[in-house]
Amino acid sequence: MKVSISTDAPTKVRADLLVLGVRTGQLGKDKLTKQLDKAVHGALTDAAKLEDFSGKSGESLRVTVRGIEAGVVLLVGLGDAALKESDFRLLAVKSAQAGMKYASIALVLPEGFEDRARAARLATEGLLGGNYKYTQYLTGDRLPKRRTEVAHLVVTKDDGDLRRAVRDGGAVGESVNFARDLVNAPPNDLTPSALAEAARSEGEARGLSVKVWDKKALEKLGMNLFLAVARGSSEEPRMVHMTWKPKKVKAGTKKIAFVGKGLTFDSGGLCIKPPKSMIDMKCDMAGAAATVGIMLACARLELPIEVHGFIGATENMTGASAYRPGDVFTSHEGKTVEIINTDAEGRLVLADVLSYVAKEVAPDYLIDHATLTGACMVALGPWTAGLFANDDELAAGYARAAGAEGESFWRMPLDEDLRDALKSDIADMKHVGDSHGGSITAALFLKEFVGKSKWMHLDIAGPAFLDRPHHQFPKGGTGFGIATAVRFLESLVG
Ligand code: BES
Ligand code: MN
Ligand code: ZN
Repeated sequence: MKVSISTDAPTKVRADLLVLGVRTGQLGKDKLTKQLDKAVHGALTDAAKLEDFSGKSGESLRVTVRGIEAGVVLLVGLGDAALKESDFRLLAVKSAQAGMKYASIALVLPEGFEDRARAARLATEGLLGGNYKYTQYLTGDRLPKRRTEVAHLVVTKDDGDLRRAVRDGGAVGESVNFARDLVNAPPNDLTPSALAEAARSEGEARGLSVKVWDKKALEKLGMNLFLAVARGSSEEPRMVHMTWKPKKVKAGTKKIAFVGKGLTFDSGGLCIKPPKSMIDMKCDMAGAAATVGIMLACARLELPIEVHGFIGATENMTGASAYRPGDVFTSHEGKTVEIINTDAEGRLVLADVLSYVAKEVAPDYLIDHATLTGACMVALGPWTAGLFANDDELAAGYARAAGAEGESFWRMPLDEDLRDALKSDIADMKHVGDSHGGSITAALFLKEFVGKSKWMHLDIAGPAFLDRPHHQFPKGGTGFGIATAVRFLESLVG
């Protein structure tokens, strides 16, 4: 779907569906809705009366009309509070969802928000996100007959700022949708090598440089924790490094590295998961997908800051060579680790990748995304990610970006008193603590491998993959984390 700016009057814009936000009690009263209602012979106010639509937030009303170019008008209640960024995002998501089966839709950008460019950018992001549907494996009648090809963003005045905003919103929206596709892809097709190839081909197409390590190369690096997880699978593991180095790096900016957990399937290994917990485990590469999405967005936006993205991709399976509870492996960083539960595989993969990146890239900020623990969902529910950081400025900056992007993160403590739970009798450490505070001990384990880096760990086990739509996020893969990361990176370059 392409989003374009239109300065046509709402009555004249050529689209199958016209979407209009309405403030409480304003339908037929403000200039815009008055004109439009008149052009459709009062159909909007008539329908609103019949259906008790008053423009409260959460209300919407679809009306078939004559007299204007569009055949259908969708009224969406905006409430009467001052418009917020999230109103634009959600209005756009709803518009695209409602217009899914129309070839063209038009969204009238509500006025009354100071930063028009921001509003246009969010609306574009929302239009693309709302239009998302995973159709790769549908056939015949299950395939949608039509998909929306164009979405017009209807504005009163066009200027360079808005054009740029629509381009930027498109850059983020497309990257989020790409990540969603990766997460939704079935694990028999999206193997570790397929994930690496997807990152390579899409990355290179957008101007990133991409390097991929195969199993042999990982052995050379001594990534024995990562390789331990991969042992039970007949699929080879991969590590991927995507680099965004802009032509002009803004002077004085930081170097950032992202790391993503890329378990293309997590059966639990020998400590096998029960079927109910295993069914969604294709989503266990959502951290990697977010990392790829962030890197793609950096390139598309041509951010003037150096950014690195690493993913550790493997399966966790039960093959004859599978790693066992009781095994001891020497990490890339040098510490020996006693395996306790083979289902706690993510921290092993991340530990080796994090220590590699901390040493080889030495970023100013090191940030990982991972669907790491069920415990984090127990603590925070399905929609909020856990944020663990050893640097307050980084955590605060990230929280600000997240708030603006409508993604929910909650800071969790790196409680050093829990570190004792990782003591082993026979090795430098165990990789799993007691049952309580499971997301914290997982984070404390990772912390052992980041050296002196300013580091943040984002446990996205809940919001990365949903069993029902929530706010701007669809069911299934959500692309959670990308919008916040981009906003944070932009805040660093001012
Ligand atoms: N991938 C899972 C965590 C997860 C659970 C992600 C639910 C998304 C939804 C992770 O590898 C895992 O299995 N963690 C274990 C750790 C435990 C064995 C210490 C868990 O959370 O139960
Ligand atoms: Mn697991
Ligand atoms: Zn896992």
